[in-house]
Amino acid sequence: MALIWRKEMSVGNDNIDYDHKYLILYVNTVELCLQTLEQKEQLYDAFDQLYEYAEKHFSKEESIQRKIGYPDRLNHRHIHNTLLKELKEVETKISSAKDSEEVKRIAPELTQFLRSWLIDHVFNEDMLLKPYLRKHPRAFS
Ligand SMILES: [Fe+2]
Repeated sequence: MALIWRKEMSVGNDNIDYDHKYLILYVNTVELCLQTLEQKEQLYDAFDQLYEYAEKHFSKEESIQRKIGYPDRLNHRHIHNTLLKELKEVETKISSAKDSEEVKRIAPELTQFLRSWLIDHVFNEDMLLKPYLRKHPRAFS
C-alpha cells in the first residue's frame, strides 16, 4: 500500500506540509516504478524528480527556520545534507544493478529505506519545528 499523508504529520505550516505531501507522492512514484520496472528510464526520471523536489524543499524549510529563529537550524541543515547523500546512494545502487532482476531483488529494501528516509525525518526532526511555527500564521513562508 502506498504512503499516505495523515494529519499527525502536520508541522503546523501549510507550505512545509504541502511539500511533505508532494515528497510522499514522489516516493510513491519511485516505489511504483521499482515494482513495475517497465522502463528503467521511468524509474530514473521518478528518482530525479524526488531528488530535485527534496533539494528545493530542504532549502525552503531551512529558509523558514532562519526566519522563525529556529535555534537548531545548523544541525537540521546538516541532517538535510545527509539525507540528500543517502538519496544519491540509493540512486547509485539502482544504477549499478546489473539487470532488472537485480533491481527487483533490491526493490523491497530500497522501498523500505525511502519510506523511513522521509517519514522518520518528518516525525523525528521536522516535528521539532512545531512549537516555533505555532507562533506564526499557518501560511508563513
Ligand atoms: Fe527537515
